[in-house]
Amino acid sequence: MAAISVLVIDDERNLVRSISFSLTNEGMEVTGAYTGEEGLALAEQILPDVVLLDLGLPDMSGMTVLEKLHDRFSELPVIMISAHGDTRTAVQTVKQGALDYITKPFDLDELILLIQRSAERVRMQREIHFLRERSLKTQGLVGEHVSIQSLCEAIKRVGESSAKTVLVSGPSGTGKALVAKALHDARYSDAPFIEVNCAALPEQLIEAELFGVEKGAYTGANQRRSGLIELADGGTLFLDEIGEMPIGLQVKLLSFLENRHYRPVGAGRERQADVFVVAATNRDLKKEVDEQRFRIDLYYRLNVLPLDVSSLASRASDVSLLVAHFAQLFATQEGCRPIEFDQVAAQTLQGYSWPGNVRELKNLIERLTILYPAQCISLSQLPSEFVPDAVTSAENAHGIHHSVEDHERLLIEQALSDAGGRKALAADKLGISRHALKRRMQRLRMGDYQ
Ligand SMILES: Nc1ncnc2c1ncn2[C@@H]1O[C@H](COP(=O)(O)OP(=O)(O)OP(=O)(O)O)[C@@H](O)[C@H]1O
Ligand SMILES: [Mg+2]
Repeated sequence: MAAISVLVIDDERNLVRSISFSLTNEGMEVTGAYTGEEGLALAEQILPDVVLLDLGLPDMSGMTVLEKLHDRFSELPVIMISAHGDTRTAVQTVKQGALDYITKPFDLDELILLIQRSAERVRMQREIHFLRERSLKTQGLVGEHVSIQSLCEAIKRVGESSAKTVLVSGPSGTGKALVAKALHDARYSDAPFIEVNCAALPEQLIEAELFGVEKGAYTGANQRRSGLIELADGGTLFLDEIGEMPIGLQVKLLSFLENRHYRPVGAGRERQADVFVVAATNRDLKKEVDEQRFRIDLYYRLNVLPLDVSSLASRASDVSLLVAHFAQLFATQEGCRPIEFDQVAAQTLQGYSWPGNVRELKNLIERLTILYPAQCISLSQLPSEFVPDAVTSAENAHGIHHSVEDHERLLIEQALSDAGGRKALAADKLGISRHALKRRMQRLRMGDYQ
């Protein structure tokens, strides 16, 4: 990750020097300015990630500089430095859009934490912005993993082709319905998208739904009823859960797929419809064929253009993107700031097996946003299936206790190494207090804790 770039605007040269020294030690890039004018010019030049701004500058008030900075860079986090006794003005600046303020004399550790947090928040905002742009291009499919990127490429190519039938396969909750819609959007801008769930209705009803009913076809059919195929004419027919289609109907569907001709229930003549058919299944269709639940000829007809959507566990690197995406989505829905996750919780999500795939992740984020709006979620707030090595029975409690300790030790070591050995920062990353970290390290007999 690129170094955090900080612009310090303060006329106290000694203070700028000591701040620069400590921040540079933390691996940040620091630029100093001694007047408001100079600070504004430098902000244009270096585009800092965070600005530290003194309230009392010689040439203009810190408040004016803050306004000018926000006119130019609306999202730029600005932390105000206020003199002792000037808290009231500092609070005013926060109302005007400053991220926070710190009062002289201040603890440099505290300042460093504040900067790191603000930079992280901006990085997240930029990432979400980037994601949103990208998902517009890929019709809502969020993901950086190579399997999602090649899927998006394939969707685009199929959309531009004249292919008539596509089969989308993958485990439940991986986004097959989203892929079907993306295929439709890649081909048409204003055409019907008609969805049929082949598992939802009994055989006769699906037939009537799909192909329509001629007037007088049976008692009670006193007027002609259009089928979904007719409604989809000129657009897409999405046959969801095709693996569940009753075997008797499969032959009728096959005949439609062969030449786009079909016969409504009770009709003497065939009709024709120009439809792009997207079928989806979470079953292994080949196995269904072997077990004679699915017609082999229909399988081959559908399988001309197979698109596979992989499980979320096989693209775990996308978990954090999806989490950020849905946290933003549900925050907008609930009218709050997006939830965040401390490091342990984030790592737990990353390592989870996600049997329900993206749907499970989406539901979890919705639930957490409702229960803990705008909070930073820690491990204890996640549902029990996420808590590693939960003690389930007395017999294995001892062994599990050890593995929990190992797990804790590993997480603490990782956090300390990420924080360059700084315990306050490591505790913050772990989402616990410095005191709690000290206690745990002592309990786990980890090094000497000063
Ligand atoms: N890559 C993704 N980016 C953003 N949202 C996603 C992604 N994949 C899935 N979703 C969302 O997750 C939810 C579940 O996806 P979808 O309904 O498409 O799954 P499915 O594969 O059709 O599952 P099933 O086999 O159970 O019908 C939907 O709300 C969908 O919008
Ligand atoms: Mg589905």
